[in-house]
Amino acid sequence: MQNFDYQTPTRLIFGKGVVDKLPGVMAQFGKRILLTYGGGSIKKIGLYQKVLELLKDYEIVELSGIQPNPKYDPSVLDGVRLCKEHNIDVILSVGGGSVLDCSKAIAAGACYEGDPWDLISYKVKAQAALPIVDIITLAATGSEYDCGGVISRTETNDKIGYLDRHLFPHTSLLDPEYTFTVSRKQTAAGIADAMNHTMEQYFVEDSTLLNDGFCESMLRSLMVNGRKCLENPEDYTARAEMMLACTYGCNGILALGNSPSGWPCHGIEHALSAYYDITHGEGLAIITPRWMRHILNERTLPRFVKYGINVFGIDASRPPMEIANKAIDETYRFFESIGIPMHLREVGIDDSRIGEMAHHIAVNEGLENAYAPLTEKDIAEIITASL
Ligand code: NZQ
Ligand code: ZN
Repeated sequence: MQNFDYQTPTRLIFGKGVVDKLPGVMAQFGKRILLTYGGGSIKKIGLYQKVLELLKDYEIVELSGIQPNPKYDPSVLDGVRLCKEHNIDVILSVGGGSVLDCSKAIAAGACYEGDPWDLISYKVKAQAALPIVDIITLAATGSEYDCGGVISRTETNDKIGYLDRHLFPHTSLLDPEYTFTVSRKQTAAGIADAMNHTMEQYFVEDSTLLNDGFCESMLRSLMVNGRKCLENPEDYTARAEMMLACTYGCNGILALGNSPSGWPCHGIEHALSAYYDITHGEGLAIITPRWMRHILNERTLPRFVKYGINVFGIDASRPPMEIANKAIDETYRFFESIGIPMHLREVGIDDSRIGEMAHHIAVNEGLENAYAPLTEKDIAEIITASL
């Protein structure tokens, strides 16, 4: 067991009707709110109108149109400018992980005099950030309970996971009913994203029975409930359990005391979506089984055997290599069965930029320090096998 120093300051308010608590939550900040949202789904589900009604006594400035894989230019830059111009007290993010991630970068940029990219690119450490409250409408990223935001900069093909303790949301309001309208594609991508967050923390050198059990339970819950959400999008119990599982994904609780992972599938996927703007969870689902096959060897075998027996119920009496390979096949088949396109070509990625992307990943993601170290050549092979 490794030493750790852990704190999650975010208040989670979870369940049916919790958005009604919004005025009470917002009362502790000033009167000027930056309301951030995406391309309009919150209007279709009536949440936008409800928020405005609940906050009618506040001054609200809006930043809309935040795209999936949120962009530094214009969204982060516009948000920072609005915060400074209107002397904003608090940011209210209403939408999926992209809206919240963008809001986090804005929150830090609003308290910094220089170019916000200095912060996102880790050139300068943030000294402060505006408080963030969020209503999350898509179960996937876990951004509602972590201190990270992933920001894309189109002209340099960068997609950076910006982590800073100032970026924890102050409060996250999670009502599973607002996820009923999430499309099949985004629901499946959310399942794959949260499953991969768990796998990134499960496949490590040094772990505990406690954490392994937590991760295995997360994976089983996400598969069972994720499938139910696809079969019946208005199954409250399934949406609720999926939402909570996703919330646990990225805030480190699954890996307390574990040795580091390096998050290799995320390192690779972030480049794919930076270069091709694909859906994050789909990219992960495609990469994951190929990454698994690539790193399977005598050293990593025991982890795959444990994964196969405890997550997929594979017969423990079979030879270890057979169990491991079957577990990888089952992983692939599960993603395929929930409708995820399982080849990069199906999401518009061909072999023309593999070398360039592999180089970018090798230089920027530090995957030579991952649980199973990956060189530029390994990364190119994994992407090629995913075509
Ligand atoms: O833009 P709108 O109109 O709101 O539509 C969105 C968007 O098109 C739609 N949507 C959201 N809630 C909905 C809904 N549609 C119907 N009903 C609802 N209730 O779904 C689409 C996708 O939204 P997005 O926010 O992009 O999805 P997600 O939450 O999966 O976020 C993906 C982003 O998060 C990053 C990813 O890289 C990607 O940029 N990640 C953030 C992490 C973090 N902060 O910890 C960790 C993850 O590993 C991930 O990298
Ligand atoms: Zn992810």
